[in-house]
Amino acid sequence: MRAVLEDCSAQGVEQIVGLGDIIGYGPDPRECLLMCKDFSVNLMGNHEEAVLFDPIGFNPRARAAVEWTKQQLMSPEYTREENGVLWQILDSMKVSHTLGDVFLAHGTPREPTREYLFVQDCTEDPAKVESIFDSFPTHTAFVGHTHVAGVFVDGPRFISPDQLEDGVHICGTGKSVINVGSVGQPRDGDPRSSYVIIEENKVQFRRVEYPIEETVKRFRATPLPENLALRLVEGR
Ligand SMILES: [Fe+2]
Repeated sequence: MRAVLEDCSAQGVEQIVGLGDIIGYGPDPRECLLMCKDFSVNLMGNHEEAVLFDPIGFNPRARAAVEWTKQQLMSPEYTREENGVLWQILDSMKVSHTLGDVFLAHGTPREPTREYLFVQDCTEDPAKVESIFDSFPTHTAFVGHTHVAGVFVDGPRFISPDQLEDGVHICGTGKSVINVGSVGQPRDGDPRSSYVIIEENKVQFRRVEYPIEETVKRFRATPLPENLALRLVEGR
């Protein structure tokens, strides 16, 4: 996350929107929450929802990661006030948000925290994709959740960032759902952090290298499952 924030700064990004799942996968939930404290908007992902409420639909390993994360945010090594700041950030997260002609959600616009919009839905369940397209009032929606960056357009079809000229998508008059990928755990085979920069109607997909081995070492100092660390190396 630090590497992406540095890239944002170098690119002159003026405001940052977080699409959720800031915590729940990694060894530094306290630091990550504090880093997104001053974002313009922070949305709630299914992992924040699980920490705040119940880990519905989580497998035992993911459930254990939620419990460990929760303990970190209540750690007696910190003062009540220091822990309180973290819970206030979580409490302030919105489920969805509209910014001009852009709709923001973690999962999908119609089921913001939990529903996945997968690439294969375009061929296997096009009615689902069309229904999601009909569920938001703006031309463009931005989501995360699957950790796979790219653009869903009418058809429906999916365009990956490497199919775009210079990795830039131009938002037109048709509807699109844009997945920004993932800063902390990309799953498209490229282990670099993924995010997008929006400038007027241009959406630029960016990848940022970060010291993955250091993060893996930090994982190994926690009881978090080893597979969470290993998948960072492969970007899967
Ligand atoms: Fe998620």
